[in-house]
Amino acid sequence: MTELVLAMDGPAGSGKSSVSKAAARRLGWAYLDTGAAYRALGWYVVQRGVDPTDAAAVIDSLPDFDYRVGTDPDGYHVFVGEHDVTTAIREPEVTAVVSAIARVPEVRTFLTGLFRDIVRHSEKPGIVVEGRDITTVVCPDAPVRILLTADEAVRMARRAAELTEHSAAHVGEALRRRDAADARVVDFMNAAEGVTTLDSTDLDFDQTVDAVLAVVQNVV
Ligand code: C5P
Repeated sequence: MTELVLAMDGPAGSGKSSVSKAAARRLGWAYLDTGAAYRALGWYVVQRGVDPTDAAAVIDSLPDFDYRVGTDPDGYHVFVGEHDVTTAIREPEVTAVVSAIARVPEVRTFLTGLFRDIVRHSEKPGIVVEGRDITTVVCPDAPVRILLTADEAVRMARRAAELTEHSAAHVGEALRRRDAADARVVDFMNAAEGVTTLDSTDLDFDQTVDAVLAVVQNVV
């Protein structure tokens, strides 16, 4: 098992994906985006014509879900079978179903096992793992655990900056709804005991990455 694990949780739009990827790059560590696996399962379920709210049918899909992911922060790709789904899993059709499948306990247990295998087999000196329940469930013993937060208005504004004005309001609302649904399953808005809260509201991207690395350097 890779012993140097940086576990990072946070809400949608907190910047945790880009921040943790940049931190992994600067540390020379591997990188694992667990949200991408939940999304890939969402994509797979939609492809199979399975109703994402039918928990039993979603559970039936798990044995055939052939998920593969590289852990290099540069050129990160996600595969389901032979399909490169790196881009497809970001489509609104997938985002719309992912919370429904993520609340199925069997799905969480299945994916948690997969994540721990990836951490165990990583060959880099360390690995950055990011998601919603990494600090509490997937890697609760990680030497570095961070909850990355930012005020909701700032998270919405950062997301909106990537979008057209028309879609920004719509996406902001969808983001709020997804966070509310996800927060009913795992608490990623409040830091668990021993987890460092990093509020990036007043920090730019580089300052946030530096702050993450400062936490790592204090511990390892
Ligand atoms: O991080 P991202 O927004 O891509 O995650 C997509 C979805 O996957 C979340 O909305 C949540 O439903 C689910 N997820 C989860 N636990 C994780 C990571 C993601 O439930 N560790």
